[in-house]
Amino acid sequence: MSKLNSRAIPEHVAIIMDGNGRWANARGLPRAFGHRKGVEAVRTTVKAAAEAGIGVLTLFAFSSENWRRPETEITDLFGLLKAFIRRDLAELHREGVKIRVIGDRFSLKEDLRVLLQEAEETTRGNSALTLVIAFNYGSRDEIARAVQSLAQDVAAGLIAPSDIDAAAIGARLDTAGLPDPDLIIRTSGEERLSNFLMWQAAYSELMFVPEYWPDFGRDTLVAALERYATRERRFGAVVAPAVAAGT
Ligand code: FPP
Repeated sequence: MSKLNSRAIPEHVAIIMDGNGRWANARGLPRAFGHRKGVEAVRTTVKAAAEAGIGVLTLFAFSSENWRRPETEITDLFGLLKAFIRRDLAELHREGVKIRVIGDRFSLKEDLRVLLQEAEETTRGNSALTLVIAFNYGSRDEIARAVQSLAQDVAAGLIAPSDIDAAAIGARLDTAGLPDPDLIIRTSGEERLSNFLMWQAAYSELMFVPEYWPDFGRDTLVAALERYATRERRFGAVVAPAVAAGT
């Protein structure tokens, strides 16, 4: 980690954790084993991200589209999230990790909703690393919910249609108050966003790495951060060569 220039460390890294099933298939194991190994990779990556000085780490744990999977796999993924929170919350809290959950939690069962809320409330005052868990999350659903909430305020006369600008929409998204991701990593060699942080990804650097998620860890994260440090970000502007070289 020490090799990395701290100025080039992204404030917010978001990861599409892909390839658990293929990792398991390649070993002749049931997909569930891949997801279980995936939780170990989550633990390692959270620690490595905190050590690297990343401020916000968002992990895509269950998408709005994952309901199309077999019921046994859905139950397994829900079980893993619950077990992770129950088992790891105390340690995450000790390490100063603040947990935040994004996604449509109101269609989740009450026991999980309560658990997620407890994790957020317990860790609310922490400031070491914000761990954002995207669960039952999809960008289109998130944007639709934000627009509905704005439309309700227009209908109630609280705001005018002309008040709806990019900032107003951003403030109603599940990610309100968080910086946009500087870097989005997807594992397993697939190269798409799959309905993940599409609004917030407007200027994110995208990185596609070949490792299946269970094989992701400290070394792969550091390698991604080193590649990120070589990227030039312009946010739509023209950067003068002298400035680009020096910053
Ligand atoms: C993608 O692999 C992975 C997921 C859909 C779930 C990710 C979930 C975890 C790592 C465990 C729970 C998370 C937390 C935060 C404790 P895939 O099944 O789509 O793999 P494939 O594309 O190879 O089939």
